[in-house]
Amino acid sequence: MKIALLGANGQLGHDLEPALRGHVVVPLTRKEADVTDFGRTRRVLTDVSPHVILNTTAYHRVDDCEDRPEHAFQVNALAVLNLICIANDLDAVLLHISTDYVFDGNTREPYTESSQPFPLSVYATSKLSGEFLVRAGAKKYFLVRTCGLYGVAGSHGKGGNFVETMIAKARRHESIRVVSDQVVTPTYTVDLAHQIARILPTTYYGLYHMTNEGCCTWYEFAQAIFDISGIDADLSPTTSELYKTPAIRPRYSVLENARLKQLGLNEMRHWRDALRAYLKEKSLGG
Ligand SMILES: NC(=O)c1ccc[n+]([C@@H]2O[C@H](COP(=O)([O-])OP(=O)(O)OC[C@H]3O[C@@H](n4cnc5c(N)ncnc54)[C@H](OP(=O)(O)O)[C@@H]3O)[C@@H](O)[C@H]2O)c1
Repeated sequence: MKIALLGANGQLGHDLEPALRGHVVVPLTRKEADVTDFGRTRRVLTDVSPHVILNTTAYHRVDDCEDRPEHAFQVNALAVLNLICIANDLDAVLLHISTDYVFDGNTREPYTESSQPFPLSVYATSKLSGEFLVRAGAKKYFLVRTCGLYGVAGSHGKGGNFVETMIAKARRHESIRVVSDQVVTPTYTVDLAHQIARILPTTYYGLYHMTNEGCCTWYEFAQAIFDISGIDADLSPTTSELYKTPAIRPRYSVLENARLKQLGLNEMRHWRDALRAYLKEKSLGG
């Protein structure tokens, strides 16, 4: 298959290229195709003429989205509508990435693909709008919700990932406060990339939850980073109430990979094993 990979230099994009070995991957960065430039994106994708358009792009500085709703909707919804139209015209499959933040977190049961979304922030609302457009408009699509991504490339949109931020703070001997009242599933982009590569050649189109297994609070995740890497850190828990941010985050956004399990295709390992693999890759214990 020929796959046009948008956001190729992002942390997920970076790990998708090797995971999709065996296919012809055409990596596209913002330089080649800024997705908000609808005409140019159409010309570039039409020239590539892919079987799959794989969209990892997003404006996901969650707090900044509160001040820049137009930009959030431009990248996370309107640009997605353009990709849907292009994919339909080229008879290509669209694989689009969404987020756990579409849920409000007022539960303690993992969300499945049939759970009702209720976004709490501009970012979450713009991503859910992108989801609705994909589900309503794309002829052939995979829509993948994931959570808490970290990968060796570091998040371009956020200027580094959580693991690297924790390690950098510890090395600067800063005292580190991390929220212990938001429950998530941190997900290694290498694992997500391989899981995507697993479903992409199938025709089991539709909505998927794809995260590593298990769950933890951000504080527990930070503890695990320091335990496994052996780095000393002055770490203590805090609460969302004390650590106020402009955008509201769900208190619980654990996703169940229900559809993958139903199809017998779930290959995701426990988040702690994935973290160990990441830190080993970075030569930091594991
Ligand atoms: N990070 C998380 O914790 C998380 C959690 C749940 C879901 N997600 C979703 O997962 C996906 C991948 O996230 P990630 O962590 O890999 O993000 P990332 O590292 O920031 O990568 C995003 C990529 O999109 C590109 N991009 C942004 N705006 C663009 C535009 N207008 N035109 C073309 N390219 C553009 C960025 O390019 P530049 O380098 O030029 O900016 C970057 O290469 C996103 O859809 C995100 O919403 C992420």
